[in-house]
This record gives sequence, C-alpha cells and structure tokens, in this order.
Amino acid sequence: METKIHLRDGDIPRQWYNLAADLAHEPLPPLGPDGCPISPESLLKVFPAKLIEQEVSPERWIDIPEGVLELLLRFRPTPLVRARHLEQALGTPARIYYKNESVSPAGSHKPNTAMAQAWYNKQQGVERLCTETGAGQWGCALALSCALLGLECKVFMVRVSFEQKPARKTMMQAYGATCLPSPSTETAAGRAVLAEHPDTPGSLGIAISEAVEAAVSDASGRTRYALGSVLNHVMLHQTIIGLEAKKQLAMLGEKVDVIIACAGGGSNFAGLAFPFAADKASGADLEIIPVEPLSCPTLTRGLFTYDYGDIAGLTPMLPMYSLGRDFVPDPIHAGGLRYHGMSPLVSQGVIEGLFSPLALPQTECFRAALLFSRTEGLLVAPETSHAVAAVIRKAEQAKQEGREKVILFNLSGHGMMDLHGYDAFLNGSLVDHEIGEEQLAAALAKLATHPPARF
Ligand SMILES: Cc1ncc(COP(=O)(O)O)c(C=O)c1O
Repeated sequence: METKIHLRDGDIPRQWYNLAADLAHEPLPPLGPDGCPISPESLLKVFPAKLIEQEVSPERWIDIPEGVLELLLRFRPTPLVRARHLEQALGTPARIYYKNESVSPAGSHKPNTAMAQAWYNKQQGVERLCTETGAGQWGCALALSCALLGLECKVFMVRVSFEQKPARKTMMQAYGATCLPSPSTETAAGRAVLAEHPDTPGSLGIAISEAVEAAVSDASGRTRYALGSVLNHVMLHQTIIGLEAKKQLAMLGEKVDVIIACAGGGSNFAGLAFPFAADKASGADLEIIPVEPLSCPTLTRGLFTYDYGDIAGLTPMLPMYSLGRDFVPDPIHAGGLRYHGMSPLVSQGVIEGLFSPLALPQTECFRAALLFSRTEGLLVAPETSHAVAAVIRKAEQAKQEGREKVILFNLSGHGMMDLHGYDAFLNGSLVDHEIGEEQLAAALAKLATHPPARF
C-alpha cells in the first residue's frame, strides 16, 4: 500500500471548479451601503476585471490560464499522504489521508490564489498590490507571487500576529514586500481604531479596511487590493487542491467518507471540499466538516446575514455567517482563524446542509498537533491544528464504532514560523477562550439592522 501519492506535472488540473453552479439556490448578490445589489463594474478600482468576472460567474468550470499553471507548477501537484503512524498511534481502523499544502514555497495553500491573483493583476497593467494578513501566511504568499511577477506589495499585518511572529515580517521583506502592523497610522481606518482602542490586538476586519483604503486611494490608478480568502474567486482558485486529491484517491481506489479542513475565511476548506461537495449535492454519503476555533465561532454561533467584510464598511455587504464586523476575537495563536465572517459560498453550503461545522478549543488543537508531529513528523500551523484535532475525534469515533472510515484532511500549512504558540502550549501558559452568551449577544445585536440574507 502506497504512503505518498504523487501526480506528474502533466496531471495538474487545467480548470477550476465553481460550486455556485451546483448549489440549490443561486448565490445572493453583494449589496452596497444603500442595501441595493452592487454592479460588478463598481469594483473595478479594487480588483482586476477578470477576477470580478470570476466572482460572479455561474459557470461550473473555469480554465486556468497557462501563465498561472506555470507559476503553480513550481510546487504543484502536491502529494496526498497517508498518515499511517498517526493511525497506528490512535489504534483506529480509519484510514487517514492528508493533502500536503505546506510544500508550497510560502508554506501554505495561500499561493494557489496569490499566484493567480498577482498574474491577473499583472496582465491588466497593475503595478502594486495591497493586502492584509492574519497569521502572515497570506502576506508571505502574496509577497512571493509579487516578487515572481515584478509587482510591488504592501501588507497590513494584524498587530498581535506581527508581534507574535516577527519572522513572517522578515520573510515578506525578503520577498521585497513592505509589512506594517495593523492598525497603523498610515490610513484613516487605522487611525480611527487607534484613537478609540490604542491597545487593540488588531483583527483581520481592521487590516482589510486599511489595505482597501491604501489601494483605492492611490491616485495613479496602478494599485489594486488582493484578498486571501472569503471571496468567490479565492475559493475557486483553491479548488485545485480537491481536484488533485480526487485524482489521487482514485489512483488508490479509495472512496472518502469524511472531509475535514479548518475554516478562517473558508479558502483551504473550500479548496479541498468543494469538488467533493458536488458529489454530496448529488446524493453521495459524505460528511464534510469545516473546523473553527471556539473563540471565533462564526459558523457554529454566528448569524447568516448581510455584513461587511471589514470593520470600516469599505467592502460591499456579503451574505455570510458573521459575528459582526467589529467583533475582535481573543488573540489566539491561530491568527488566520480570527475572522468575524466566512466565505458566502461556504456559508451557503452550511445553510443547504452540505457542510457540518465544528468549533474546537485551542488547547485540544495544540495537543492534537503535537501528536501529529510526534507520529507523522510535521509541525502543522496552529490553524491546521484545528483540522488535525477534528480528524483525531473522527478516527476515535471510527474506533469505537469499529468502522473503516476513510478520512481526508487539508494540511493547509506548516507551523515552523508559529513556534511562539507551540512554546506557550508546551510551557502551560496557553488557555482556552470561549465567548460568553452576553458577549455573543452584544456582537450579534449589531447585525439586527443589516438586510437579512434570504434565498
Ligand atoms: C495555514 C493556514 N491555514 C488556514 C488558514 C485560514 O484561512 P482560510 O480559511 O481562508 O483557509 C490560514 C490563514 O491565514 C492559514 O495560514
């Protein structure tokens, strides 16, 4: 029995898969501040035209341009690996596989869309990209992609991660990008937050406001904004993960029962799960689980409604699960999972019964990650540890039930630059955060005035 399944360069998928084509309802449109659907053209100052086209496309399959494939071939196809040693340690009859996205040069799945986005921007004559980053993985991926294509790159990094993970900033700088802690004094959005909360740990919602403002306020018109998750075109680009995994499982003759990935804005989850969700939508018996932190329980305790993607309300309102745009989660170590909202397509998949979300405490996740590192050898990112913990729960359940389940999860990134979090866990200073009913009710109450999202 093989342990690692590799595809050849020539097997790389040549089209992305768009789940919008297979959902029961047509996705709801983004709304402007007046509550009316926005026109795709109104986003032209923010994104290049081709990405806006993908954002609203109803097509099931979208061709991957040769130029993007050339960039992706630097590290794709990625291996599918059987976690035999973890299985043995758990004594489970389950067969556990993971798609190893940590082999990208930036260390995570993020280059799958960063390379595509940078390429489309370059094609349109854009010279500079602005973005935000939570844990720093997305910032590094975009910095890398800009370096490969000769674009400038500016990254607003959530302050708590900037302080917890200084090496990420150095990595972005090594790729030639500029990296600032957010909130910063460079933007009106950042200054407004600092005036009210000078000690804020920051949040992705704040950093997105700063990056959008920095992009659209460049009078030369040569700057655009890039988002590392949440939006439909980002989910689309990530589906190459699941499309490869399907080929690899078919080579083994395996039929998957459970699919698991962590979910911050939803992109690595969507990337692995969407191509399989199409099978589930047409009746396949399959459990698909997005895993989020207990301290930022967007899918499990949030509201499905229209909300802004950022704190200042510079983005359109999106139909998604949300905890409210000014919800600032506790500074847990999985910085990439500290987002108040969720991809509209992932959210809709939950509403339509395709996905069954789960929220886990960070200590269980770090414990799971240590077991994984001591059996399989890889030290996963704190975000990814949420998927590992859920896999272990499912494998233990399979053991109790005596069932040979096939579990597939997304190893979305390595944790070699997240050692601060591991250190906190190992020295016993890491605690669990769960938002109380009152804090949650106060956060959700602010959403009451937003337009409801109904199909
Ligand atoms: C390694 C890793 N996994 C997961 C995530 C969560 O993002 P998403 O839900 O978009 O995959 C991040 C975000 O920074 C990340 O760095």
